[in-house]
Amino acid sequence: MSSVDQSGTFLLGDRSVKRLGYGAMQLAGPGVFGPPKDRGAALAVLREAISNGVNHIDTSDFYGPHITNEIIREALHPYPKDLVIVTKISARRGKDASWIPAFSREELTQAVHDNLRNLGLDVLEVVNLRAMFDIHGPAEGSIEAPLTAVAELQRKGLVRHIGLSNVTPAQISEGRRICKIVCVQNSYNLAQRGDDAMIDGLARDGIPYVPFFPLGGFNPLQSSALSNVAKRLGATPMQVALAWLLRRAPNILLIPGTSSVAHLRENLAAAGLQLADDAMKELDTIISAGPA
Ligand SMILES: NC(=O)c1ccc[n+]([C@@H]2O[C@H](COP(=O)([O-])OP(=O)(O)OC[C@H]3O[C@@H](n4cnc5c(N)ncnc54)[C@H](OP(=O)(O)O)[C@@H]3O)[C@@H](O)[C@H]2O)c1
Repeated sequence: MSSVDQSGTFLLGDRSVKRLGYGAMQLAGPGVFGPPKDRGAALAVLREAISNGVNHIDTSDFYGPHITNEIIREALHPYPKDLVIVTKISARRGKDASWIPAFSREELTQAVHDNLRNLGLDVLEVVNLRAMFDIHGPAEGSIEAPLTAVAELQRKGLVRHIGLSNVTPAQISEGRRICKIVCVQNSYNLAQRGDDAMIDGLARDGIPYVPFFPLGGFNPLQSSALSNVAKRLGATPMQVALAWLLRRAPNILLIPGTSSVAHLRENLAAAGLQLADDAMKELDTIISAGPA
């Protein structure tokens, strides 16, 4: 049994995935733009993830843009049968690396075709529609028009399952009235817990919640409580941050990102780390209030 198996499994769409997966955003160049410094190292990270038992990879064609998906294809195609690749759409990149909302029917259709081509797939297993009313975090606004467009692409057979990202509870409710939503991907971690109620609600309905920035994102988490618990357990702070998420709710699926094989191995080993109640309590002191 690989260490990743110890994270357990959860149903994503109609596929069982291990709860500890991998997020590919860090494989592009600085600022998630352009090629990585070392393409060979990026390929090695992906192959190492698969050889350690990872069967859930998160990506997007706007990482690079295109480059991260091309690297995934080069590293892993033809894909292992049990691998679930989840992508997201609704943004494009400016020449200056900016993130530009691309929420129209035409842009969403183009994005699905770009993902299919660059990943080398005939159908995308899960596509997350990322709400773009505020690029940096969930903001209210109707997702009816873009989600209806994605549901049409699903009816055409280009997309198997649909998820949502960067959304509010009202948008999840609206989305579930339009089509089946198989996962929600929002920013959440030990220090940023604005989605607590959302996670519990989704858990009751058996819907996975996939936190992005599980380690704190571009500035990985730092806190004395985290370091103290890690030291006591003979683990690293990043492993404790991941173990906390695994224990937080059964419907949480992890996609920590890294461009380093050493960090990847460290992160995957968190699957075997058990946090006792006293450690959970100590980690509860690290809470910055406010929405995710
Ligand atoms: N839906 C959305 O809007 C959205 C937004 C952002 C991200 N995502 C997805 O979520 C995934 C996870 O988010 P993320 O990658 O941005 O952030 P993250 O997983 O919270 O953290 C990644 C950062 O932590 C560092 N890191 C990773 N493992 C480490 C370790 N063991 N020790 C020290 N540093 C470590 C990485 O640097 P190194 O490369 O040096 O390891 C990188 O700087 C992404 O890969 C992407 O697939 C989705």
